[in-house]
Amino acid sequence: MKFDFDRVIDLRNTHSAKWDRMEAGTVWRGKEAPVKSTGSTEALDAIPMWVADMDFNVPPPVTAALQAEVDRSVFGYYDTNQSWREAACAWLERRHGWSPDPDWLSTTPGVVSAIGLILQALSEPGDEVMVFSPAYHAFRYIIEANDRVLRNVPMIVEQGRSRIDMQALADMLTPRGKVVILCSPHNPGGRVWEVDEIRAVAEFCRENDLYLISDEIHCDLVYPEARHVPTALAAPGVMDRLITCVSATKSFNLAGAHVSAAVISNPEIKKKVDARMGASGLMSQNRFGMIATEAAWRGGDAWLDALIPYLQANRDHFASRIARAVPGSRAMHLEATYLGWVDFTGTGLEMEDYMERITQRARIGVSPGPQFGTGGEKWMRFNFAMRRALLDEALDRLETAFSDLG
Ligand SMILES: Cc1ncc(COP(=O)(O)O)c(C=O)c1O
Repeated sequence: MKFDFDRVIDLRNTHSAKWDRMEAGTVWRGKEAPVKSTGSTEALDAIPMWVADMDFNVPPPVTAALQAEVDRSVFGYYDTNQSWREAACAWLERRHGWSPDPDWLSTTPGVVSAIGLILQALSEPGDEVMVFSPAYHAFRYIIEANDRVLRNVPMIVEQGRSRIDMQALADMLTPRGKVVILCSPHNPGGRVWEVDEIRAVAEFCRENDLYLISDEIHCDLVYPEARHVPTALAAPGVMDRLITCVSATKSFNLAGAHVSAAVISNPEIKKKVDARMGASGLMSQNRFGMIATEAAWRGGDAWLDALIPYLQANRDHFASRIARAVPGSRAMHLEATYLGWVDFTGTGLEMEDYMERITQRARIGVSPGPQFGTGGEKWMRFNFAMRRALLDEALDRLETAFSDLG
C-alpha cells in the first residue's frame, strides 16, 4: 500500500495548534500562565516547526474506524476498554517484544496528565522530581503545577550525543527526592537509551527508594540504527516501582485524541493512580480517542513502516542542509523522534539574533532550546515531520536569513 506523505494538506483554520497558534515555543512557566516566547512568528506564510505533531494523514484503518462511527452517528458513553488494552499490549509485544498483562493498563487522558495524576498519587507537595535535562518542557509544567519541585539533572553531550550523568543524578538527590522521570527515547535530542543506561537509572531508583516513570511515548519513532528497549524489559528488577507511559498518539499523529496508557504492574501503585483518576471523574474514556488509537495499534503497522524511512530521509536531509544554511550550526544525530535538535553555539551569534533570523526573517515557528531547561540554552528544536517540499522551503528561507554569515 502506498501512503502519500507528500500530500499537500491545508491545516490553517482547522483548530490545528501547530498551524493556527504560531506563537511557536509558548513557554510553560509552571503555575504562571504560559507565555509567548521569542519563538513566535505570526507571519501569514509562516512554517510551523515547533509542537510535536506531524502534517501527515493518519493510517487508513484509523480513518476507516472513525468513519464507521460517524456513519452510525450515535456517540454515547464508551463502555469497557478491554479490547483497547489488549490492542495496546499486542502492539507492544509485536513491536517491542514486551507483553504486559492488559490488566496492568490504566487509560489516561494523555501522558502529561498521566504524569500529573501519578505525582498526585505517589508524592506530596514539596517532593522532588528529577528529569534529565534538557528535558521535554511539559515535564516542568506538570511537576510545578502540582506543587512538586523540579530537579534538572544535566546530561553530558559527548561525541555529539547526550549521555546520562549518573554522578549528577546522585548529587541531585535530597531526602525530598521521590520520583525520576526517564524519557525513553529522549526528547529533545532523540537518544535511544542503551540497556546499561536504563539499568543504571533503574538501579539508582531501587537503591534510593524512588518511583520511576518511564515516558515511552516516542518508542515507535526509532530509526533503524537503534532499538528501543522498554524499561520493563531492560530493568525488570524495578517493576514494583515502575510506571511506563505509552501512547499511540505520537506514533500515528493522533495527538488531539488525548488518550494514553499507564502500565503499572504493582497493584498497590495502580490502585493509587486509579484512585486519583476516579477522584477527577476520569472513569470513562473519550470514545473517539479510544477508537482511533485502538485502530492504530491494530492496523497501523504498514503505515508506520512506511513513515519511518520518510522521516529518516527528512532527518538526514535536514541535518545536512541546516549545517550549510546556518554556518556553525550542528544538528544532533537523532536516533529517534522527528524533532531536529540543533546547536547554535558555533554560529557565534547571540540568541536574540538567531531567533530574529529564524522567526522574523525566515518566518519559521521553532521551539527555543531554553524552554527545555539546563543544557538547552544555545539550542533550537525544529520539527521536520512535514512533506519534503515544505521542509526544503523552510531550509531555503533559513539559508537566506543567514546568508551574510557564509
Ligand atoms: C516526551 C513526551 N511526553 C509526552 C508528550 C505529550 O503527551 P500527551 O499529548 O499524551 O500529553 C510529548 C509530546 O511531545 C513528549 O514529547
